[in-house]
Amino acid sequence: MSNRHSKTQWAKLKVLQSEMRGHKKSPTRLRFDIVGDIAIIKNAHGKTGLSWAQSILRNNKRVKVVLAQTGSVQGIFRLCKLKVVAGDNRMTTIHRENKCLFHIDLGTMHFSPRLVHERRLIAKSVGFWEAVLNMFGGAGTFSIEIAYKNPSVTVFNIDINPDAIRMCLRNVLANNIRNRVIAVLADAKEAASIVFLNSVDRVLLPLPEKSCEYFSVAVSALKRKGVIQYYDFIQTTKEESPLEKAVVKIKGLINGKNMSVREGRIVKSVGPRRYLVSFELYKGEEREDVS
Ligand SMILES: C[S@@+](CC[C@H](N)C(=O)[O-])C[C@H]1O[C@@H](n2cnc3c(N)ncnc32)[C@H](O)[C@@H]1O
Repeated sequence: MSNRHSKTQWAKLKVLQSEMRGHKKSPTRLRFDIVGDIAIIKNAHGKTGLSWAQSILRNNKRVKVVLAQTGSVQGIFRLCKLKVVAGDNRMTTIHRENKCLFHIDLGTMHFSPRLVHERRLIAKSVGFWEAVLNMFGGAGTFSIEIAYKNPSVTVFNIDINPDAIRMCLRNVLANNIRNRVIAVLADAKEAASIVFLNSVDRVLLPLPEKSCEYFSVAVSALKRKGVIQYYDFIQTTKEESPLEKAVVKIKGLINGKNMSVREGRIVKSVGPRRYLVSFELYKGEEREDVS
């Protein structure tokens, strides 16, 4: 949700959501995200989607485009399948959050407005003069918020998607943080192991599907001491706690690496008993593990 979308606008959309729940022809709950002036309906089907889209446009003057998500996130660039269902024919917009602004093209790069709180927490957790490596930086959202909040910090924003890196450069200019976010078009594994070996204080791994695969190379990019910001998806049963299950998995990963687990949280729920979790893992420090 953009900061520009004031509380009243948000309240209006909530009202619309509950109206739609009562809509005779649409018994399912309307679920949508807002990115800049674009609304993305997550569960649109045929005519119901179109009538929802028109209602969204009518009820919120700031929304100029309504997209429908027609498939799940997929491919190496982690793109959502989207189509325009109402309003202007475009997928580009400017999204504002946590005092930063982001040019985003939803057709060519990944972006989730639901991570607004997570990005704020990460930006707050970074210390003075840190060198940060964001291995899956996309259009630079995490990296730019970190640099914006921490003027002494340098962030290297790696991504394999050329459109995302081009947009990151644009976002660096738009947020006036030249020299503090360095956009790099590369494969994260190659960049981390060759260019950044033993050279950064913190590594972000915001590609939860591949955190395990990239974990060792992320650790090799850290100096003697440092922090990995680790993301993962955890599927639980009714009896299991997502954080406890994540800790067991992480302890297996850090075994023999002089690392400890700290600060875990559930970022969001992503399906029935499936969660995105985030953990700070410390290298080279005598800290007590979470149990
Ligand atoms: C889930 S998105 C996160 C993007 C960004 N951090 C954000 O929150 O907006 C993951 C990103 O990783 C990138 N990616 C996937 N495989 C990669 C690789 N091997 N090397 C570098 N980037 C990669 C994708 O292009 C995508 O932009």
